[in-house]
Amino acid sequence: MLVAPSILSADFGKLADEVEAICNSGCDLVHVDVMDGHFVPNLTIGPVVVSAVAKVATKPLDIHLMVENNSFFVDLFASLNPRYISFHIEEEKHPHRLIEKIRSLGIKPAIVLNPHTPPEAIEFLISELDMILLMSVNPGFGGQKFIPSVIEKAKRLKSLIEKYNPNCLIEVDGGVNDKNISLLKEAGVDIVVAGSYVFNHTKGYEYAISSLKR
Ligand code: DX5
Ligand code: ZN
Repeated sequence: MLVAPSILSADFGKLADEVEAICNSGCDLVHVDVMDGHFVPNLTIGPVVVSAVAKVATKPLDIHLMVENNSFFVDLFASLNPRYISFHIEEEKHPHRLIEKIRSLGIKPAIVLNPHTPPEAIEFLISELDMILLMSVNPGFGGQKFIPSVIEKAKRLKSLIEKYNPNCLIEVDGGVNDKNISLLKEAGVDIVVAGSYVFNHTKGYEYAISSLKR
């Protein structure tokens, strides 16, 4: 299991130290939640802060857009050389076009599904994607409760992926912890995002990350 800590739960007063610390604690990606106050009822960080993160990160960035104008935000972050940019299917009229744009910028395109969106909604896009992110909470905030129906969704998505594009990865985001990690693994999930579980763990980041990989 690959682990992508979400810096939303980091201490923003010492963000550079926090990013360095997770990168030195065995994480695989640095998950960056970009929220615009419109698509979700929260507002987070833009390219100025994310470029400071990119400067100190020794692991690739995984940028999760929760915004209304996806194409505009892709342009804002493209020069920071993230590994993935993911956008919500619920907010995109022309997902195929946007996937091509992200790939043309040298970034791996990914699509995010909200808890209510079935995997079949993106059946004919799977062959174009490097990753699909399943939300296991309603997007907008860290520290929410895991929605268990994502397990069945991941299994259904896995069989679509086997049919259309076996190289496409499944990522799950929201409420991930040491209790649900084995169910996620069994369901075929490749990467988990974990915010509050990693950053609030009493035994530290390294222990928290390795407990999700075990
Ligand atoms: C929620 C974000 C998540 C969030 C995860 O909208 O996409 O990445 O930070 O936080 P936890 O792991 O605390 O649910
Ligand atoms: Zn996220």
